[in-house]
Amino acid sequence: MSEEYPQPTAEGVRSLIEARMHLEGPMLPIVHAIQAEYGYVPEMALPLIADALNLTAAEVHGVVSFYHDFRHAPTGRHVVKICRAEACQASGGTAIAEHTLKKLGIDWNGTTENGAVTVEPVYCLGLCACGPAAMVDGTVVGRVDDARMDKLLAEAGA
Ligand code: FES
Repeated sequence: MSEEYPQPTAEGVRSLIEARMHLEGPMLPIVHAIQAEYGYVPEMALPLIADALNLTAAEVHGVVSFYHDFRHAPTGRHVVKICRAEACQASGGTAIAEHTLKKLGIDWNGTTENGAVTVEPVYCLGLCACGPAAMVDGTVVGRVDDARMDKLLAEAGA
């Protein structure tokens, strides 16, 4: 089961920002802290970060969108990450990804309509010898085939 996150509030975001303003190059630590707290980086946090750092909201948006690790929307109850790095692609990862996204009717970073599963790409899980690899709520799974993925998705309630 993935973690339950609190609803983002301006007050909460401000205190996460303030606690990191003393750091050199505070932008990334601030954005990471916001995602760690709420599970994603809410749109309303961007102008607050911009104000604190004397930047425009567009500049902050540019940085947040540049990094794949930052989420722009809350995830489903479970997060399935599928490895898209080279070794896994070579061992059938592309087909697994296509199968999964098609079966759920979503695109990368999308969430099923029932809110059960979000599918995200990941670039190497350190399980290259046992590809294709995936991760479900932080647990790595090797040698994933269509049947195994179907089972994982069913267990996650997709
Ligand atoms: S390439 Fe997929 S786990 Fe390393």
